Amino acid sequence: MQARSNRNLLVDQQKEILNMHQPETRTLSPSQGLRGEIVVPGDKSISHRAIMFSSLAEGTSRVRGLLRGEDCLSTLAAFQQMGVRVEDQGGELLIHGGGIRGLQEPANVIDCGNSGTTMRLMSGILAGQPFFSVLSGDKYLRRRPMARIITPLTAMGAQISGRENNTKAPLAIQGGQLRAGAYRSPVASAQIKSAVLLAGMQVEGETRVFEPHLSRDHSERMLRYFGVDIQVFEDGAQVCGPVSLKGREVEVPGDISSAAFFLVAALITPGSELLLKNVGVNPTRSGIIDILQQMGGSIELLNQRELSGEPVADLLVRYSALHGIRIDGELVPRAIDEFPVVCVAAVFAEGETLIRDAKELRVKETDRIAAVCDTLGRVGGQVEALEDGLRVTGSGHLRGGRVNSCGDHRIAMSMAVAALAADSEVIIEDTACTATSFPGFWELLVQISS
Ligand code: S3P
Repeated sequence: MQARSNRNLLVDQQKEILNMHQPETRTLSPSQGLRGEIVVPGDKSISHRAIMFSSLAEGTSRVRGLLRGEDCLSTLAAFQQMGVRVEDQGGELLIHGGGIRGLQEPANVIDCGNSGTTMRLMSGILAGQPFFSVLSGDKYLRRRPMARIITPLTAMGAQISGRENNTKAPLAIQGGQLRAGAYRSPVASAQIKSAVLLAGMQVEGETRVFEPHLSRDHSERMLRYFGVDIQVFEDGAQVCGPVSLKGREVEVPGDISSAAFFLVAALITPGSELLLKNVGVNPTRSGIIDILQQMGGSIELLNQRELSGEPVADLLVRYSALHGIRIDGELVPRAIDEFPVVCVAAVFAEGETLIRDAKELRVKETDRIAAVCDTLGRVGGQVEALEDGLRVTGSGHLRGGRVNSCGDHRIAMSMAVAALAADSEVIIEDTACTATSFPGFWELLVQISS
């Protein structure tokens, strides 16, 4: 395929295609079982980082398996806006990085869309760049807390201001010289950790982040893969700046957070046996496998290997009788995006499932504690909201009915999974949001559940 040149058109066109054919409301019927072999799209967190670090690297990086969902396209467009040249060769993207000082001041506001990762990680990068930038996003992202990154970055000398007394986007960043430092984050968040490390890697000295439990470590792994000297501890990570990144070949594994929908779908739908190929199983992300196995789910990890510094496996999952469990502590950040679909599994499990220490769910794309209670409750699930989690009383079945995703991709896909094992059809409103993380989700679901 002929290489296409660096232009926002590329991203705009892809975004349009993603949105164009997405009906807002979908009706899903119970399934007779899911069988076959599937490949889920590239990991969202790793894709963001592949774009960011390739853009900051010296030389050309080749990125294969990149997730072309709206969130990652927002990150790609942001770097294109700052002068990074990108060639789309179909199966792979060539990103021509200009080094850590190679970015240009963006001429317009950077639109992060729905993506918290884009906004928070870019804040860390932009705080240390010698120019002015503004980050904004959709109505959901503009409601999400930004003080969590503004506070540590400001302590490093960054000049960032935002709406509502510097707590919400849009964020205006006057980049400049920062100071290295140490930050003890009150929450286990890879976005906070990464924002501080990305700021720290641009300045002289050691910058260290401590966190209460280890959050996903894709930044640390990929920075190391790009040649950065970064140290990892049980309670965080440290970078010694200023660093330089070397362009690399990156192979992005399948997203375990996307695989999670199919794992649960197969576990709760009688007659199912599914092989999910090439899924990232980084231990800081694989909490969903531990949770589902503890619930009695049959999931085997086959063909374990490493891709660009990330562990990968094929996952074989079979319909299983599930039982309720308690989930808390260090397991929570390791499965933070999977709780909506864990609750679906819990509805079909015997007994109670209790999720605690998960207050972070209140500040995701939606308040996921409220959204899960509302949506699963409407189709007959017994779900109680707790301040920092959820209590699900398994009944083994769901009535069916009509729900709204609240514009949250993971709520929409969780309800689609619930529909497969429900007594009658589930109608889901506002489903276009699935394009943020999983283009092709509905087609794949139909393909293997018929
Ligand atoms: C992400 C970190 C997590 C996760 C999000 C992606 C990342 O957020 O929920 O979907 O790529 O760093 P927090 O850092 O806020 O926990």
